[in-house]
Amino acid sequence: MRMLIMGPPGAGKGTQAAQITSFCGILHISTGDMFRAETKESTELGKKLKSYLDSGQLVPDEVTVKVIEKRLQKPDCEKGFLLDGFPRTVPQAEALDGILGKDGLDLIINISVDSAALLERLTGRRVCKQCGKTYHLLYQPPQDEGVCDNCGDELYQRSDDTRETVSNRLEVYQNQTAPLLDYYAQRGIVRDINGEQSIDDVFQEIKKVIRGIV
Ligand code: AP5
Ligand code: MG
Ligand code: ZN
Repeated sequence: MRMLIMGPPGAGKGTQAAQITSFCGILHISTGDMFRAETKESTELGKKLKSYLDSGQLVPDEVTVKVIEKRLQKPDCEKGFLLDGFPRTVPQAEALDGILGKDGLDLIINISVDSAALLERLTGRRVCKQCGKTYHLLYQPPQDEGVCDNCGDELYQRSDDTRETVSNRLEVYQNQTAPLLDYYAQRGIVRDINGEQSIDDVFQEIKKVIRGIV
């Protein structure tokens, strides 16, 4: 099973991806998570990546494609994977077609959410420093404030979840990533999911779609 989860920033890609990958027993591959991990290293690449992420701009296609190509060559990808946040431009999608060859993707889940709701979701998001579990101050609060339910470590706010950067990210999504829906439309593998329901209801809808294709 090779899947892709799409949707604007804050649509719930990461939240749903965690549930989908444990349900299907496949890998979660998030370019955003991979880039954030690299920004913690004080390497030249880490510094460059941080400036793209903090401004809400996309990392250049050649850098992104190299990173994903290397990741998809690892043997653990053979059991299947869910791509989250890649591809994000038409050239990236073309590169992915080249990497995957004729079998390509089996399913694309496209989550839609209105932009006013996205701002609220992103500014209220908190993430665990240790295990990466995602919370929301209102919609998915931890049991103890500021502490991860899973591992007990501290929660933090992503540096690109400020109002200003969020509005940039939404614009970048509209201009550069939304056109991918047309790119994939004719393959007949895109399933639209209403992301404006509870986290659990969204997952139930996604499970129905997955059951329909396996
Ligand atoms: P990335 O990390 O991919 O960020 P994004 O696409 O902006 O998406 P988010 O992770 O912010 O949102 P999400 O959809 O995962 O939502 P979540 O589940 O967390 O990319 C970051 C940056 O890296 C980019 O800006 C770019 O610079 C770079 N980058 C990454 N990939 C790249 C690529 N391919 N090419 C170039 N550059 C790239 O949920 C959000 C919040 O809402 C949470 O608090 C959650 O609890 C809450 N929530 C979720 N679902 C619901 C619900 N149903 N109801 C209420 N609240 C909900
Ligand atoms: Mg995410
Ligand atoms: Zn944790």
